[in-house]
Amino acid sequence: MKYERTCIPQEEIDRQLSICHDIFDRITADGRRPLAMVDTYGCQQNEADSEKLRGYLAEMGCGFTGDEYQADIIVVNTCAVREHAEMRVLGNVGALNHTKKARPDQLIAVCGCMVQQEHMAEKIKKSYPIVNLVFGPHELWRFPELLLQVMEKRRRIFATEKNAGVVAEGIPSKRDGSVKAWLSIMYGCNNFCTYCVVPYVRGRERSRLPEDIVREARELVAAGYRDITLLGQNVNSYGKDLDCGVDFADLIRMINEIPGDFLIRFMTSHPKDASEKLFQTMAACEKCAHHIHLPVQAGSNRILRAMNRSYTREKYLEKVAAARKWMPDLVLTTDIIVGFPGETDEEFAETLSLCEEVRFDAMFTFIYSKRVGTPAASMPDPYTRADKQKHFDALTELANRISAEKHAAYIGTRQRVLVDGETGREEYKLSARTNGGRLVHLNGSSDLIGKFIAVDIVSGNTWALYGKVAEQDG
Ligand code: 5AD
Ligand code: SF4
Repeated sequence: MKYERTCIPQEEIDRQLSICHDIFDRITADGRRPLAMVDTYGCQQNEADSEKLRGYLAEMGCGFTGDEYQADIIVVNTCAVREHAEMRVLGNVGALNHTKKARPDQLIAVCGCMVQQEHMAEKIKKSYPIVNLVFGPHELWRFPELLLQVMEKRRRIFATEKNAGVVAEGIPSKRDGSVKAWLSIMYGCNNFCTYCVVPYVRGRERSRLPEDIVREARELVAAGYRDITLLGQNVNSYGKDLDCGVDFADLIRMINEIPGDFLIRFMTSHPKDASEKLFQTMAACEKCAHHIHLPVQAGSNRILRAMNRSYTREKYLEKVAAARKWMPDLVLTTDIIVGFPGETDEEFAETLSLCEEVRFDAMFTFIYSKRVGTPAASMPDPYTRADKQKHFDALTELANRISAEKHAAYIGTRQRVLVDGETGREEYKLSARTNGGRLVHLNGSSDLIGKFIAVDIVSGNTWALYGKVAEQDG
Protein backbone atom coordinates (compact mmCIF):
# COMPACT_ATOMS: atom_id res chain seq x y z
CA MET A 1 0.00 0.00 0.00
CA LYS A 2 1.54 3.31 -1.10
CA TYR A 3 0.60 6.71 0.20
CA GLU A 4 1.91 10.26 -0.14
CA ARG A 5 5.02 10.68 2.06
CA THR A 6 5.03 13.89 4.02
CA CYS A 7 8.62 15.07 4.27
CA ILE A 8 9.19 18.11 6.43
CA PRO A 9 11.18 20.61 4.33
CA GLN A 10 14.63 21.55 5.65
CA GLU A 11 13.53 25.21 5.95
CA GLU A 12 10.92 24.10 8.48
CA ILE A 13 13.57 22.37 10.62
CA ASP A 14 15.81 25.45 10.25
CA ARG A 15 12.87 27.53 11.49
CA GLN A 16 12.54 25.23 14.52
CA LEU A 17 16.25 25.65 15.23
CA SER A 18 15.93 29.43 15.04
CA ILE A 19 12.98 29.19 17.49
CA CYS A 20 15.34 27.24 19.78
CA HIS A 21 17.64 30.26 19.71
CA ASP A 22 14.74 32.63 20.55
CA ILE A 23 13.87 30.38 23.47
CA PHE A 24 17.55 30.41 24.47
CA ASP A 25 17.49 34.24 24.67
CA ARG A 26 14.26 34.16 26.62
CA ILE A 27 15.18 31.51 29.19
CA THR A 28 18.77 32.59 29.75
CA ALA A 29 17.76 36.25 30.19
CA ASP A 30 18.45 36.13 33.95
CA GLY A 31 21.97 34.79 33.33
CA ARG A 32 21.09 31.30 34.55
CA ARG A 33 21.39 28.12 32.52
CA PRO A 34 18.02 26.35 32.66
CA LEU A 35 17.85 22.63 33.27
CA ALA A 36 15.74 20.09 31.40
CA MET A 37 14.78 16.53 32.15
CA VAL A 38 13.59 14.01 29.56
CA ASP A 39 11.98 10.90 31.00
CA THR A 40 11.60 8.06 28.48
CA TYR A 41 9.31 5.00 28.53
CA GLY A 42 9.06 2.14 26.07
CA CYS A 43 11.06 1.00 23.10
CA GLN A 44 14.34 2.01 21.45
CA GLN A 45 12.46 4.17 18.97
CA ASN A 46 11.33 6.26 21.92
CA GLU A 47 14.93 6.41 23.19
CA ALA A 48 15.94 7.70 19.75
CA ASP A 49 13.10 10.26 19.82
CA SER A 50 14.20 11.43 23.26
CA GLU A 51 17.69 12.03 21.90
CA LYS A 52 16.11 14.41 19.39
CA LEU A 53 14.11 16.15 22.13
CA ARG A 54 17.39 16.58 24.03
CA GLY A 55 19.04 17.82 20.84
CA TYR A 56 16.43 20.57 20.56
CA LEU A 57 16.65 21.33 24.30
CA ALA A 58 20.45 21.64 24.06
CA GLU A 59 19.94 24.13 21.20
CA MET A 60 17.71 26.08 23.56
CA GLY A 61 20.68 26.35 25.93
CA CYS A 62 19.44 23.83 28.47
CA GLY A 63 21.64 21.70 30.66
CA PHE A 64 20.26 18.33 31.79
CA THR A 65 19.26 16.88 35.14
CA GLY A 66 17.74 13.67 36.40
CA ASP A 67 16.14 15.46 39.35
CA GLU A 68 12.59 16.65 38.68
CA TYR A 69 12.84 19.26 41.47
CA GLN A 70 15.77 20.94 39.67
CA ALA A 71 14.24 20.89 36.21
CA ASP A 72 12.81 24.00 34.55
CA ILE A 73 11.46 21.91 31.67
CA ILE A 74 10.27 18.30 32.01
CA VAL A 75 9.40 16.19 28.97
CA VAL A 76 7.81 12.79 29.53
CA ASN A 77 8.09 10.64 26.39
CA THR A 78 5.46 7.94 26.72
CA CYS A 79 4.64 4.43 25.50
CA ALA A 80 1.24 2.90 24.71
CA VAL A 81 2.11 -0.72 23.98
CA ARG A 82 0.81 -2.07 27.30
CA GLU A 83 -1.38 -0.77 30.08
CA HIS A 84 1.39 -1.18 32.62
CA ALA A 85 3.58 1.43 30.86
CA GLU A 86 0.64 3.84 30.73
CA MET A 87 -0.10 3.39 34.44
CA ARG A 88 3.52 4.15 35.29
CA VAL A 89 3.45 7.30 33.16
CA LEU A 90 0.23 8.51 34.74
CA GLY A 91 1.57 7.80 38.24
CA ASN A 92 4.80 9.65 37.57
CA VAL A 93 3.12 12.60 35.86
CA GLY A 94 0.73 12.82 38.82
CA ALA A 95 3.71 12.95 41.18
CA LEU A 96 4.94 16.07 39.34
CA ASN A 97 2.21 17.95 41.25
CA HIS A 98 4.79 18.26 44.03
CA THR A 99 7.56 19.65 41.86
CA LYS A 100 5.19 22.07 40.16
CA LYS A 101 4.05 23.32 43.56
CA ALA A 102 7.69 23.92 44.52
CA ARG A 103 8.46 25.57 41.15
CA PRO A 104 5.28 27.05 39.65
CA ASP A 105 7.15 28.15 36.49
CA GLN A 106 8.14 24.61 35.67
CA LEU A 107 7.03 23.61 32.15
CA ILE A 108 5.72 20.06 31.85
CA ALA A 109 5.30 18.35 28.46
CA VAL A 110 3.93 14.87 27.83
CA CYS A 111 4.58 13.44 24.36
CA GLY A 112 4.82 10.17 22.45
CA CYS A 113 2.57 7.22 21.71
CA MET A 114 0.35 7.25 24.80
CA VAL A 115 -0.97 10.77 24.18
CA GLN A 116 -1.48 10.13 20.46
CA GLN A 117 -4.52 8.13 21.63
CA GLU A 118 -7.52 10.43 21.84
CA HIS A 119 -8.78 9.05 25.15
CA MET A 120 -5.38 9.55 26.79
CA ALA A 121 -4.95 13.13 25.52
CA GLU A 122 -8.45 13.80 26.93
CA LYS A 123 -7.49 12.26 30.26
CA ILE A 124 -4.43 14.50 30.55
CA LYS A 125 -6.51 17.53 29.56
CA LYS A 126 -9.13 16.82 32.24
CA SER A 127 -7.21 15.26 35.12
CA TYR A 128 -3.63 16.56 34.89
CA PRO A 129 -3.86 20.38 34.79
CA ILE A 130 -0.15 20.67 35.65
CA VAL A 131 0.70 19.50 32.12
CA ASN A 132 1.36 22.49 29.83
CA LEU A 133 2.04 20.76 26.53
CA VAL A 134 0.90 17.50 24.94
CA PHE A 135 2.10 16.31 21.52
CA GLY A 136 2.12 13.05 19.59
CA PRO A 137 5.03 11.40 17.74
CA HIS A 138 4.14 13.16 14.47
CA GLU A 139 4.66 16.59 16.02
CA LEU A 140 8.07 15.97 17.58
CA TRP A 141 9.82 17.88 14.77
CA ARG A 142 8.01 21.06 15.88
CA PHE A 143 8.57 20.71 19.62
CA PRO A 144 10.40 24.10 19.78
CA GLU A 145 7.47 25.92 18.15
CA LEU A 146 4.97 24.25 20.48
CA LEU A 147 7.06 25.06 23.55
CA LEU A 148 7.39 28.70 22.49
CA GLN A 149 3.60 28.90 22.10
CA VAL A 150 3.18 27.65 25.67
CA MET A 151 5.70 30.22 26.91
CA GLU A 152 4.21 33.14 24.97
CA LYS A 153 0.52 32.43 25.26
CA ARG A 154 0.71 31.06 28.78
CA ARG A 155 -1.95 28.50 27.92
CA ARG A 156 -1.99 24.74 27.48
CA ILE A 157 -1.27 23.36 24.00
CA PHE A 158 -2.49 19.98 22.69
CA ALA A 159 -1.08 18.82 19.34
CA THR A 160 -2.27 15.27 18.73
CA GLU A 161 -4.22 15.31 15.46
CA LYS A 162 -4.52 12.02 13.59
CA ASN A 163 -1.77 11.75 11.00
CA ALA A 164 -0.31 9.08 8.70
CA GLY A 165 3.13 10.26 9.78
CA VAL A 166 5.97 12.43 8.54
CA VAL A 167 9.68 12.08 7.81
CA ALA A 168 11.83 14.88 9.22
CA GLU A 169 15.58 15.07 8.54
CA GLY A 170 18.05 17.41 10.21
CA ILE A 171 16.77 17.39 13.81
CA PRO A 172 19.85 17.50 16.06
CA SER A 173 20.33 14.50 18.38
CA LYS A 174 21.99 14.61 21.75
CA ARG A 175 22.91 10.97 22.13
CA ASP A 176 23.05 9.16 25.43
CA GLY A 177 26.29 7.20 25.18
CA SER A 178 29.52 7.37 23.22
CA VAL A 179 29.83 3.71 22.19
CA LYS A 180 26.34 2.60 21.12
CA ALA A 181 23.98 4.61 18.94
CA TRP A 182 20.42 4.23 17.68
CA LEU A 183 19.79 5.01 14.03
CA SER A 184 16.16 5.14 12.90
CA ILE A 185 15.81 3.90 9.34
CA MET A 186 12.03 3.95 9.13
CA TYR A 187 9.00 4.95 11.13
CA GLY A 188 5.51 3.53 11.61
CA CYS A 189 3.99 0.14 10.92
CA ASN A 190 1.56 -1.25 8.33
CA ASN A 191 1.01 -4.66 9.86
CA PHE A 192 -1.94 -4.11 12.17
CA CYS A 193 -1.36 -7.11 14.39
CA THR A 194 -4.75 -7.31 16.10
CA TYR A 195 -3.41 -6.72 19.64
CA CYS A 196 -1.12 -3.81 18.82
CA VAL A 197 -1.69 -0.08 19.10
CA VAL A 198 1.51 0.96 17.30
CA PRO A 199 0.08 1.38 13.78
CA TYR A 200 -2.62 3.67 15.18
CA VAL A 201 -0.22 5.94 17.05
CA ARG A 202 2.90 5.86 14.88
CA GLY A 203 1.22 5.93 11.46
CA ARG A 204 2.13 4.18 8.21
CA GLU A 205 5.56 2.85 7.27
CA ARG A 206 7.88 5.59 6.04
CA SER A 207 11.47 4.77 5.13
CA ARG A 208 14.23 7.34 5.31
CA LEU A 209 16.23 7.74 2.10
CA PRO A 210 19.24 5.38 1.94
CA GLU A 211 21.63 8.31 1.40
CA ASP A 212 20.39 10.06 4.56
CA ILE A 213 20.84 6.86 6.59
CA VAL A 214 24.31 6.13 5.21
CA ARG A 215 25.38 9.74 5.86
CA GLU A 216 24.23 9.48 9.49
CA ALA A 217 25.98 6.11 9.90
CA ARG A 218 29.21 7.64 8.54
CA GLU A 219 28.92 10.51 11.01
CA LEU A 220 28.38 8.08 13.87
CA VAL A 221 31.43 6.02 12.94
CA ALA A 222 33.52 9.20 12.57
CA ALA A 223 32.32 10.32 16.02
CA GLY A 224 33.63 7.05 17.50
CA TYR A 225 30.44 4.99 17.89
CA ARG A 226 31.21 1.29 17.61
CA ASP A 227 27.78 -0.29 17.81
CA ILE A 228 25.01 1.06 15.58
CA THR A 229 21.47 -0.30 15.90
CA LEU A 230 19.21 0.32 12.90
CA LEU A 231 15.70 0.93 14.20
CA GLY A 232 12.23 0.41 12.82
CA GLN A 233 9.03 -1.39 13.87
CA ASN A 234 9.63 -3.76 10.99
CA VAL A 235 13.04 -3.16 9.42
CA ASN A 236 12.51 -6.01 6.95
CA SER A 237 10.03 -3.94 4.99
CA TYR A 238 12.52 -1.09 4.68
CA GLY A 239 12.35 0.65 1.30
CA LYS A 240 9.02 -0.82 0.15
CA ASP A 241 7.46 2.65 0.25
CA LEU A 242 10.34 4.32 -1.60
CA ASP A 243 10.63 2.50 -4.93
CA CYS A 244 14.35 3.25 -4.99
CA GLY A 245 15.58 -0.29 -5.49
CA VAL A 246 17.18 -0.53 -2.04
CA ASP A 247 15.79 -3.10 0.38
CA PHE A 248 16.91 -3.78 3.95
CA ALA A 249 19.60 -6.27 2.97
CA ASP A 250 20.99 -3.74 0.45
CA LEU A 251 21.02 -1.10 3.18
CA ILE A 252 23.07 -3.37 5.46
CA ARG A 253 25.57 -3.87 2.64
CA MET A 254 25.84 -0.11 2.09
CA ILE A 255 26.51 0.52 5.78
CA ASN A 256 28.91 -2.42 5.94
CA GLU A 257 31.04 -0.66 3.30
CA ILE A 258 31.70 2.32 5.57
CA PRO A 259 35.36 2.02 6.66
CA GLY A 260 35.99 1.46 10.37
CA ASP A 261 35.68 -1.13 13.13
CA PHE A 262 32.04 -1.15 14.19
CA LEU A 263 29.03 -3.44 14.50
CA ILE A 264 25.70 -3.16 12.73
CA ARG A 265 22.66 -4.35 14.66
CA PHE A 266 18.97 -3.95 13.89
CA MET A 267 15.53 -4.35 15.37
CA THR A 268 12.74 -5.32 15.03
CA SER A 269 12.30 -7.92 12.28
CA HIS A 270 8.87 -9.23 11.34
CA PRO A 271 9.14 -12.94 10.48
CA LYS A 272 6.89 -12.60 7.43
CA ASP A 273 9.45 -10.37 5.66
CA ALA A 274 12.68 -11.94 6.97
CA SER A 275 14.17 -13.28 3.74
CA GLU A 276 16.91 -15.68 2.78
CA LYS A 277 18.57 -12.66 1.14
CA LEU A 278 18.70 -10.96 4.54
CA PHE A 279 20.30 -13.98 6.24
CA GLN A 280 22.79 -14.35 3.40
CA THR A 281 23.68 -10.67 3.61
CA MET A 282 24.12 -10.84 7.38
CA ALA A 283 26.47 -13.78 6.94
CA ALA A 284 28.44 -12.00 4.19
CA CYS A 285 28.80 -8.60 5.90
CA GLU A 286 31.59 -8.81 8.46
CA LYS A 287 30.29 -5.83 10.44
CA CYS A 288 26.77 -7.18 10.81
CA ALA A 289 26.15 -8.80 14.19
CA HIS A 290 24.84 -12.35 14.07
CA HIS A 291 21.77 -11.54 16.09
CA ILE A 292 18.13 -11.41 15.04
CA HIS A 293 15.30 -10.36 17.27
CA LEU A 294 12.44 -12.22 15.58
CA PRO A 295 9.21 -11.92 17.58
CA VAL A 296 7.15 -15.08 17.20
CA GLN A 297 4.39 -13.94 19.61
CA ALA A 298 2.70 -17.39 19.81
CA GLY A 299 3.19 -21.03 18.87
CA SER A 300 -0.34 -21.94 17.84
CA ASN A 301 -1.51 -21.38 14.27
CA ARG A 302 -5.01 -20.43 15.38
CA ILE A 303 -3.62 -17.72 17.67
CA LEU A 304 -1.14 -16.51 15.04
CA ARG A 305 -4.04 -16.14 12.62
CA ALA A 306 -6.15 -14.32 15.20
CA MET A 307 -3.18 -12.03 15.81
CA ASN A 308 -2.94 -11.32 12.04
CA ARG A 309 0.74 -12.22 12.05
CA SER A 310 0.71 -13.53 8.42
CA TYR A 311 2.87 -16.61 9.11
CA THR A 312 2.36 -20.05 10.58
CA ARG A 313 4.36 -21.88 13.20
CA GLU A 314 5.84 -24.02 10.39
CA LYS A 315 6.85 -20.96 8.33
CA TYR A 316 8.49 -19.42 11.40
CA LEU A 317 10.46 -22.60 12.06
CA GLU A 318 11.55 -22.66 8.41
CA LYS A 319 12.87 -19.10 8.70
CA VAL A 320 14.79 -19.98 11.84
CA ALA A 321 16.33 -23.00 10.11
CA ALA A 322 17.30 -20.87 7.09
CA ALA A 323 18.84 -18.18 9.32
CA ARG A 324 20.84 -20.78 11.24
CA LYS A 325 21.96 -22.41 8.02
CA TRP A 326 23.61 -19.13 6.98
CA MET A 327 24.81 -18.27 10.50
CA PRO A 328 25.40 -21.30 12.71
CA ASP A 329 26.47 -18.95 15.52
CA LEU A 330 23.26 -16.88 15.28
CA VAL A 331 21.85 -15.44 18.51
CA LEU A 332 18.07 -15.53 18.29
CA THR A 333 15.77 -13.59 20.59
CA THR A 334 12.01 -13.18 20.52
CA ASP A 335 8.88 -11.57 21.97
CA ILE A 336 5.94 -13.66 23.15
CA ILE A 337 2.47 -12.66 24.23
CA VAL A 338 0.75 -14.91 26.75
CA GLY A 339 -3.01 -14.83 27.23
CA PHE A 340 -4.14 -13.46 23.88
CA PRO A 341 -7.98 -13.45 23.98
CA GLY A 342 -9.26 -17.00 23.98
CA GLU A 343 -5.84 -18.70 24.15
CA THR A 344 -6.47 -22.17 25.61
CA ASP A 345 -4.14 -24.37 27.68
CA GLU A 346 -3.50 -26.50 24.59
CA GLU A 347 -2.67 -23.46 22.47
CA PHE A 348 -0.34 -22.14 25.13
CA ALA A 349 1.34 -25.56 25.24
CA GLU A 350 2.15 -25.02 21.55
CA THR A 351 4.04 -21.85 22.51
CA LEU A 352 6.03 -23.84 25.06
CA SER A 353 6.83 -26.55 22.55
CA LEU A 354 7.90 -24.02 19.94
CA CYS A 355 10.26 -22.43 22.47
CA GLU A 356 11.69 -25.84 23.37
CA GLU A 357 12.22 -26.52 19.69
CA VAL A 358 13.83 -23.19 18.77
CA ARG A 359 15.73 -22.63 22.02
CA PHE A 360 15.85 -18.85 21.96
CA ASP A 361 18.87 -17.19 23.55
CA ALA A 362 16.51 -14.77 25.29
CA MET A 363 12.76 -14.25 25.33
CA PHE A 364 10.81 -11.10 26.16
CA THR A 365 7.49 -12.28 27.50
CA PHE A 366 4.36 -10.22 28.04
CA ILE A 367 0.88 -10.84 29.33
CA TYR A 368 -1.66 -9.65 26.76
CA SER A 369 -2.84 -6.13 27.48
CA LYS A 370 -6.10 -4.89 25.99
CA ARG A 371 -5.56 -1.77 23.83
CA VAL A 372 -8.45 0.59 23.02
CA GLY A 373 -9.44 0.55 19.35
CA THR A 374 -7.59 -2.63 18.36
CA PRO A 375 -9.51 -5.61 16.92
CA ALA A 376 -8.36 -7.95 19.74
CA ALA A 377 -9.98 -5.66 22.31
CA SER A 378 -13.41 -6.87 21.20
CA MET A 379 -12.55 -10.58 20.95
CA PRO A 380 -14.10 -12.84 23.59
CA ASP A 381 -11.62 -13.43 26.42
CA PRO A 382 -13.03 -15.97 28.89
CA TYR A 383 -9.78 -16.58 30.78
CA THR A 384 -8.89 -14.89 34.03
CA ARG A 385 -5.78 -12.95 34.90
CA ALA A 386 -4.80 -15.83 37.21
CA ASP A 387 -5.01 -18.34 34.30
CA LYS A 388 -2.76 -16.09 32.24
CA GLN A 389 -0.34 -15.58 35.10
CA LYS A 390 0.04 -19.36 35.41
CA HIS A 391 0.98 -19.61 31.75
CA PHE A 392 3.26 -16.60 32.04
CA ASP A 393 5.13 -18.13 34.99
CA ALA A 394 5.58 -21.43 33.14
CA LEU A 395 6.95 -19.61 30.10
CA THR A 396 9.30 -17.46 32.20
CA GLU A 397 10.66 -20.55 33.86
CA LEU A 398 11.32 -22.18 30.51
CA ALA A 399 12.89 -19.00 29.08
CA ASN A 400 15.19 -18.65 32.09
CA ARG A 401 16.25 -22.27 31.93
CA ILE A 402 17.07 -22.15 28.21
CA SER A 403 18.95 -18.82 28.56
CA ALA A 404 21.02 -20.29 31.41
CA GLU A 405 21.79 -23.39 29.33
CA LYS A 406 22.74 -21.29 26.33
CA HIS A 407 25.00 -19.14 28.51
CA ALA A 408 26.61 -22.21 30.09
CA ALA A 409 27.75 -23.26 26.61
CA TYR A 410 29.90 -20.09 26.40
CA ILE A 411 31.99 -21.10 29.43
CA GLY A 412 35.56 -21.83 28.38
CA THR A 413 35.22 -20.02 25.04
CA ARG A 414 36.98 -16.84 23.95
CA GLN A 415 34.67 -14.09 22.70
CA ARG A 416 35.34 -10.81 20.94
CA VAL A 417 33.30 -8.26 22.87
CA LEU A 418 32.73 -4.53 22.74
CA VAL A 419 33.17 -2.91 26.15
CA ASP A 420 30.32 -0.43 26.46
CA GLY A 421 30.25 0.89 30.00
CA GLU A 422 30.64 0.48 33.73
CA THR A 423 28.32 -1.57 35.93
CA GLY A 424 28.83 0.59 39.02
CA ARG A 425 29.73 -2.53 41.00
CA GLU A 426 32.99 -3.35 42.83
CA GLU A 427 33.46 -6.72 41.25
CA TYR A 428 32.95 -7.09 37.51
CA LYS A 429 33.19 -3.35 36.93
CA LEU A 430 32.78 -3.33 33.16
CA SER A 431 29.92 -4.35 30.91
CA ALA A 432 30.38 -5.57 27.37
CA ARG A 433 28.42 -7.30 24.61
CA THR A 434 29.32 -10.25 22.46
CA ASN A 435 28.81 -10.02 18.70
CA GLY A 436 25.40 -11.64 19.23
CA GLY A 437 24.52 -9.06 21.88
CA ARG A 438 24.86 -11.21 25.02
CA LEU A 439 25.77 -9.23 28.14
CA VAL A 440 29.24 -9.88 29.58
CA HIS A 441 30.55 -8.58 32.91
CA LEU A 442 34.29 -8.34 33.40
CA ASN A 443 37.02 -6.63 35.33
CA GLY A 444 39.43 -4.18 33.77
CA SER A 445 40.28 -0.52 33.45
CA SER A 446 37.70 1.95 32.19
CA ASP A 447 40.15 2.75 29.35
CA LEU A 448 38.75 -0.34 27.69
CA ILE A 449 35.34 1.31 27.20
CA GLY A 450 34.68 1.68 23.47
CA LYS A 451 37.18 -1.04 22.54
CA PHE A 452 36.74 -4.48 21.03
CA ILE A 453 38.67 -6.94 23.18
CA ALA A 454 39.01 -10.70 23.57
CA VAL A 455 37.49 -12.15 26.72
CA ASP A 456 37.60 -15.64 28.20
CA ILE A 457 34.19 -16.59 29.55
CA VAL A 458 34.46 -18.10 33.03
CA SER A 459 30.84 -18.36 34.15
CA GLY A 460 27.29 -17.48 33.23
CA ASN A 461 23.70 -17.46 34.45
CA THR A 462 20.31 -16.69 32.92
CA TRP A 463 21.01 -13.00 32.51
CA ALA A 464 24.70 -12.57 31.85
CA LEU A 465 28.11 -14.03 31.13
CA TYR A 466 31.19 -13.33 33.25
CA GLY A 467 34.65 -13.16 31.75
CA LYS A 468 38.23 -12.06 32.09
CA VAL A 469 40.19 -9.98 29.64
CA ALA A 470 42.32 -12.22 27.42
CA GLU A 471 44.21 -9.85 25.19
CA GLN A 472 43.58 -6.52 23.54
CA ASP A 473 42.88 -6.60 19.85
CA GLY A 474 40.78 -3.48 19.43
N1 5AD B 1 -0.15 -6.72 24.98
C1 5AD B 1 0.98 -7.36 25.34
N2 5AD B 1 2.11 -7.28 24.63
C2 5AD B 1 2.10 -6.53 23.51
N3 5AD B 1 3.06 -6.27 22.60
C3 5AD B 1 2.56 -5.45 21.66
N4 5AD B 1 1.28 -5.17 21.94
C4 5AD B 1 0.96 -5.85 23.08
C5 5AD B 1 -0.22 -5.97 23.85
N5 5AD B 1 -1.35 -5.36 23.51
C6 5AD B 1 4.40 -6.87 22.68
C7 5AD B 1 4.71 -7.70 21.44
C8 5AD B 1 5.71 -6.84 20.72
C9 5AD B 1 6.41 -6.16 21.86
C10 5AD B 1 7.14 -4.93 21.50
O1 5AD B 1 5.36 -5.85 22.75
O2 5AD B 1 5.29 -8.92 21.85
O3 5AD B 1 6.60 -7.60 19.92
FE1 SF4 C 1 2.76 -3.85 16.47
FE2 SF4 C 1 2.72 -5.93 14.75
FE3 SF4 C 1 3.56 -3.49 13.91
FE4 SF4 C 1 5.07 -4.90 15.63
S1 SF4 C 1 4.54 -5.51 13.51
S2 SF4 C 1 4.55 -2.68 15.77
S3 SF4 C 1 3.52 -5.93 16.90
S4 SF4 C 1 1.48 -4.02 14.59
